[in-house]
Amino acid sequence: MTRRRSILAVGALVLAPLVCARGGGAAAAQGKAAPAGGQATVSRAAFGQTADGTAVESFTLRNAHGIEVKAITLGAIITSVRVPDRAGRFDDIVLGYDDLAGYLRKPSYFGAVVGRYGNRIAKGRFTLDGKTYTLAINNGPNHLHGGVKGFDKVVWKGERASGAGAASVTFRYTSRDGEEGYPGTLEARVTYTLTDRDELSFEYAATTDKPTVVNLTQHSYFNLTGGRTDILGHQLTIDADRFTPVDATLIPTGQLAPVEGTPLDFRRATAIGARIGQDDAQLRNGGGYDHNFVINRRGEGLVHAARVVDPASGRTLDVQTTEPGVQFYTGNFLDGTITGKGGIVYKKRWALCLETQHFPDSPNQPTFPSTVLRPGSEYRSKTVLTFGVAR
Ligand code: GLA
Repeated sequence: MTRRRSILAVGALVLAPLVCARGGGAAAAQGKAAPAGGQATVSRAAFGQTADGTAVESFTLRNAHGIEVKAITLGAIITSVRVPDRAGRFDDIVLGYDDLAGYLRKPSYFGAVVGRYGNRIAKGRFTLDGKTYTLAINNGPNHLHGGVKGFDKVVWKGERASGAGAASVTFRYTSRDGEEGYPGTLEARVTYTLTDRDELSFEYAATTDKPTVVNLTQHSYFNLTGGRTDILGHQLTIDADRFTPVDATLIPTGQLAPVEGTPLDFRRATAIGARIGQDDAQLRNGGGYDHNFVINRRGEGLVHAARVVDPASGRTLDVQTTEPGVQFYTGNFLDGTITGKGGIVYKKRWALCLETQHFPDSPNQPTFPSTVLRPGSEYRSKTVLTFGVAR
């Protein structure tokens, strides 16, 4: 690992491959989530087939407090996250569909791992070592989220593991040289781990056989009310003094601008809806919040990036990451045309995303932290979500 990206002490959690889900072998074989009983468990089940007949599987992680996370091999998509409110009532706090057909029909990046490059690359072009690469233009004049068939739309291989107080699933995908225009065969993996400390971590790793660019992120859409109302009443804190201002096509100008005095100042907990309607050029460009924040950090490693609190349910979500940035997006493109799980209609601002990442368009921005990955180096990235309740 020669890159500037964080080297992670993965040894902190030793996960042994599972022969059968601990305490839940029979239940897992039948496809049921294993019962909570002081031990995190993981089970697997069939989740249908894609149009070309590829089987899709679902994995269920459950911890000692009954928190349950489900993820499928299509797009490494997190399909549900069930957590308690302050009265102990469990709700699903992420957007998605009841079945595979929904994810195939209108994916919208719900819950998916986005890659090979999360966020935008201007005009779908970048130059690396003197060679220019051309990518799909799939978002106005730009390239977005890895292209037409990005990592959110491919079937990964899933493998489960569990250890003391933690249950995991690892998804692996090999992206061929030239896929979606990117150079190099990329071996990518992501491990989702749910612990009995009510943390859900995402650990990414990738290697390549030719110089390339990589920027993986998790695109879950959160609604801490469990879908009762929009997210404008959620209180948000982002540990960022600066953000990367964008043009009208959401490409960074290259500046790192102070949030001070702007509606993007979330250094103190503020309702998401408090300033979203202000007449501000950046909010106009994003149609609301759709901006990358420069996380305050000194050196490498995990730092706290953001906190979301739903005052009504008391649910809280804390985000820590090794990444330099976080894209805060307020579901501005949701417009009521999608009906999701349980018949809930996803209207504008129905959810928020906190996509930990390198900055948008880094391949064309020499002053931004580099997203270049070279043979012999390993891409590593980690994000930890912590679920809680405020009394
Ligand atoms: C990211 C982008 C948004 C939008 C969503 C998905 O958050 O920044 O502009 O593309 O993904 O709709």
